[in-house]
Amino acid sequence: MSGPHTPADGATTAPAVRGWPLLGSAAPLMRDPLGFIGSLRTRGDLVAIRLGPMTMYVVNSPELIRELLVEKAASFDKGRQFDKLRPWWGNGLATNSDHASHRRQRRLMQPAFHKGQITRYVPDMRNVAEERIGAWAGGRTVALDEELYTLTLDMTLRNLFSTGLGERDLVRLGEALPVILGGVLWRCLDTTELVERLPLPANRRFTAALDTMHSTVDRIIERHRGDGSDLLSVLKQARDPDTGERMSARQIHDEVITLLMTGSETTRSTLSWACLELSRNPAIQRRLQQEADTVLAGGPVEARHLDHLTYTRAVVSEALRAHPVVWLLTRRAVTDVELGPYRIPAGAAVCYSSYTLHRDPDLYPDPDRFDPDRFTQQSPDPATAPDPGSGCPISGGGPGVRRERSRRPRDTYLAFGAGSRACVGEPLAWAQTMVILATIARHWTLAPAPKARIRPAARMLLMPDRLPLVLRSRHP
Ligand code: HEM
Repeated sequence: MSGPHTPADGATTAPAVRGWPLLGSAAPLMRDPLGFIGSLRTRGDLVAIRLGPMTMYVVNSPELIRELLVEKAASFDKGRQFDKLRPWWGNGLATNSDHASHRRQRRLMQPAFHKGQITRYVPDMRNVAEERIGAWAGGRTVALDEELYTLTLDMTLRNLFSTGLGERDLVRLGEALPVILGGVLWRCLDTTELVERLPLPANRRFTAALDTMHSTVDRIIERHRGDGSDLLSVLKQARDPDTGERMSARQIHDEVITLLMTGSETTRSTLSWACLELSRNPAIQRRLQQEADTVLAGGPVEARHLDHLTYTRAVVSEALRAHPVVWLLTRRAVTDVELGPYRIPAGAAVCYSSYTLHRDPDLYPDPDRFDPDRFTQQSPDPATAPDPGSGCPISGGGPGVRRERSRRPRDTYLAFGAGSRACVGEPLAWAQTMVILATIARHWTLAPAPKARIRPAARMLLMPDRLPLVLRSRHP
């Protein structure tokens, strides 16, 4: 690796990782994405890698990540990956790269995720969770990732449109979404854009799945009669506080697609990691079950319980610390900009990994240990508290942090991002994951399946490659 050097104007160029001729570091990145990106942490606060013809700047230090996401956010847009997604998902909150219109749109969307609103979505969450989790088959090995897929998709759809959704729509969307999410990744990586133009069966499936998703969403929106208990009702009513304007039908369509694409797989993967860790750590699982027994007193989860499920929240926080499902995020410099002493040229691709950050032993001692107690006490130090907006929707607090955290700089917990592009759905995600985990804890004990080897799969999201677990009923 070549070291940093300072040109005549005083800005420093980032140290570069030497890769292979032509390919650069593409091969180690493809072979072992987590290991390769993680190995760059000790090489410097910011390092440059080459991926074929492209240079990518990898930001490693929490201070520079904060500059990227918060202080100098206006100098970056979301980059090529999101340019690619826009024609497929539309110009919703996640894909919008224009700062001014993104801010306006965010103000319109935000009320749908306020505490009072989340409380109104909880009955739908509880009903789906009880219905599906209660029907799981006990006493044998179950592909829990598949169960969690239908469960979280069903829950996201009911939270989006509790009215207007039919069983056939659920099946159609359930089939289309994995095809779209699976197809998006390699299309974003293929800089030549050649393969996606070929008349291959995979391309035809991708296009058909997109058509199904858009037409099904259109039909559901058309049938929907809002009663205020779902997200779509709130989006339809939302008015810009300055102009009083409502969202256009096109914008509502694009936002619904965006929430579907961003909301279900993230929650499913988080729960998959939490369940895997519980199956491997019986003492933690027992504590979770004891909390569910005490707080829920034998009944299903209600909104009023969420504030009291503090250990459940700590388990989710730790699952997202150890396995942040959105593990790698990219940006693109829209102008020449400096991060710390380093110069980034306009147009350059920049990324950071919350996985690398969350596994830094200086920030999280013994980072491979799964320990929800890292999050069981509130930080007494407001300077180190998580960004406003992060944390449990109901209590309004952050994920909860132990005293050791007060030595850490801000923004070292980035499971939901930071700054103006941080996850708008975070309060909903907390409520959904906590309702589901508490419902599982009330019904089932999870145990590892014999001889199963489960590995992390780092694609667009970080998830276990499979999840065979044995379910034992707690009420035989
Ligand atoms: C545990 C589950 C979830 C995790 C870990 C997660 C994580 C994230 C992260 C890290 C970002 C920032 C992306 C960036 O900076 O480029 C993000 C953005 C976003 N998330 Fe989530 N998310 C989750 C669940 C949800 C849910 C349930 C919804 C809504 C139904 C949602 C909707 C969004 C949207 C719309 C954005 C774009 C926000 C903007 O650019 O203004 N997410 N999410």
